[in-house]
Amino acid sequence: MEVKVFKDKKEASLFAFNYFSDVLKKNNKAVFGLATGSTPLDLYENLCNSDLDFSNATSINLDEYYGLSSDNEQSYHYFMNENLFKKKPFSKSYLPNGEEKDVEKELNRYNEIIKNNPIDLQILGIGNNGHIGFNEPSSPFDSKTRLVDLTPSTIDANKRFFNSIDEVPKKAISMGIGSILESKQILLLAFGKNKKEAIKNTVKGPMDVSVPASALQQHKNTIVILDEDAASLL
Ligand code: PGA
Repeated sequence: MEVKVFKDKKEASLFAFNYFSDVLKKNNKAVFGLATGSTPLDLYENLCNSDLDFSNATSINLDEYYGLSSDNEQSYHYFMNENLFKKKPFSKSYLPNGEEKDVEKELNRYNEIIKNNPIDLQILGIGNNGHIGFNEPSSPFDSKTRLVDLTPSTIDANKRFFNSIDEVPKKAISMGIGSILESKQILLLAFGKNKKEAIKNTVKGPMDVSVPASALQQHKNTIVILDEDAASLL
């Protein structure tokens, strides 16, 4: 894995934007793996303000809360519509369906989508505990899409978006680490001091399921894009 450190989030996001643009310019039918959270927001804003055309491209999101309807303002469907798809529609955009009662059917559907649309460029954020997507510590490195229990630290980190901690969903459907590793190229973005431990463990620590993002050490084409704060323990 290659590590690039930028002065701040804005410069780092600009690098990610240029990388993203190049992938689309080379192949307007590219498949993009997309992430939610605060980390990719500047990247998405740059994409929205660009003249790029995604109408032939495909997107596949990493995860969705289980039990939230897609029009709930905290759902990742809502987040993606508001922050990217409204301005930049893709030919096809896939997210897990957090309302499907038949979980097994939904997991199979999503795994088929990933198999049929190999991801050219995967965008990742990272949790304070090292999670990627909702692959929490101890997730197997060969995992496929599955229903996961969110850890107390993730529920706590996400409570800022809800009225109370009781409203934060406790489960999510997440693409597995095995599927993430099959992406041709990966950009992992991390900004701010609260990510510095997770980044140190990801880049310098042993490859271990206790730090899900450390699985990326075995991926040939991953760039870790950091601001100075997130890189401060490297
Ligand atoms: P954040 O979340 O971008 O809001 O920090 C990242 C994550 O939990 O994966």
